[in-house]
Amino acid sequence: MSEKKQKAVGTAPGKAILFGEHAVVYGRPAIAVPVFEVQARAEVELGELGQGTVVHAKDLGLRLILTDGPSDNPLCAIVWKTLAHLEIPPQPDIVVSVESTVPIARGLGSGAAVSTAIVRALASYFGKRLTDRVISDLVYEAEQLYHGTPSGIDNTVVAFGKPVYFVRGRTLEIFGAKAPFTLTIADTGILSATKDVVSDVRRAYENSRSQYERLFDEIGQIAQEGRAAMESGDIQEIGHLMNRNHALLKEIDVSCPELDRLAQAALAAGALGAKLSGAGRGGNLLALTTPETREQVEASLRAAGAKRIIVTEVSSSCD
Ligand code: PMV
Repeated sequence: MSEKKQKAVGTAPGKAILFGEHAVVYGRPAIAVPVFEVQARAEVELGELGQGTVVHAKDLGLRLILTDGPSDNPLCAIVWKTLAHLEIPPQPDIVVSVESTVPIARGLGSGAAVSTAIVRALASYFGKRLTDRVISDLVYEAEQLYHGTPSGIDNTVVAFGKPVYFVRGRTLEIFGAKAPFTLTIADTGILSATKDVVSDVRRAYENSRSQYERLFDEIGQIAQEGRAAMESGDIQEIGHLMNRNHALLKEIDVSCPELDRLAQAALAAGALGAKLSGAGRGGNLLALTTPETREQVEASLRAAGAKRIIVTEVSSSCD
């Protein structure tokens, strides 16, 4: 067996979906980028002998003991799955603690970030190396407990920590933007459960298949054009595509007045584009800003009700 350390740490970033949410569940391409300004951090350390494997979610005030087998709790599930993958039995004396600055239920990939941090910390604690691909696959299994039918984009972008062009079950391409650009991310403060929004979209899709197939096709087309715009460094075009994507997300009924208000405020203050990100009906809005417009857009977003603002740079492939 590999050597146990006294203590090991694993971290993972949050994420934002730049193009293609919801349509990605139906096989269309989507693009997501990591957001390193928020992160999850897990720590594994030696506890008291006989206490079992303890999972401590500091932010939630939760202390759980790992049972001998799969669990419905996503935190226990990822610990269990990782130990099973590493062929290590549940331990009589370890504590897995996790904390995160990725806001929960706001479309920034909190569940995937926490799970990824846990996998990394456990692998490091037992002196094992796991590839990003394997980490992503393990996290996907835990994501099913948060989301039901996740497309897999969250675990992929969070585990790889790079922009990804993703088609469910088919393509995973890590790629870079030709020129860096800045996203100003504004939180509506409204919690939104991805599982609920995804199942509402499913219901609407079942009722109007041809209409939704057409909308998903258009969104998928935008994701393809978005990748081309990122690879050629055409920032204006990225903004234009974000606006088109937001309009289509409104058509599939996953926006809300608060998100639309933030989008309008960002555009009125000079943002090049604005769209909701993630499941929608709350959570965060992405605005594409330049050094000249950033401050004005931020002030305008705050005046329109943004509860928190995160500024992140999508770096260029040359950085
Ligand atoms: O709300 P989030 O960040 O979990 O993003 C969900 C993205 C969806 O496309 C709506 C669902 C999925 O599984 O891809």
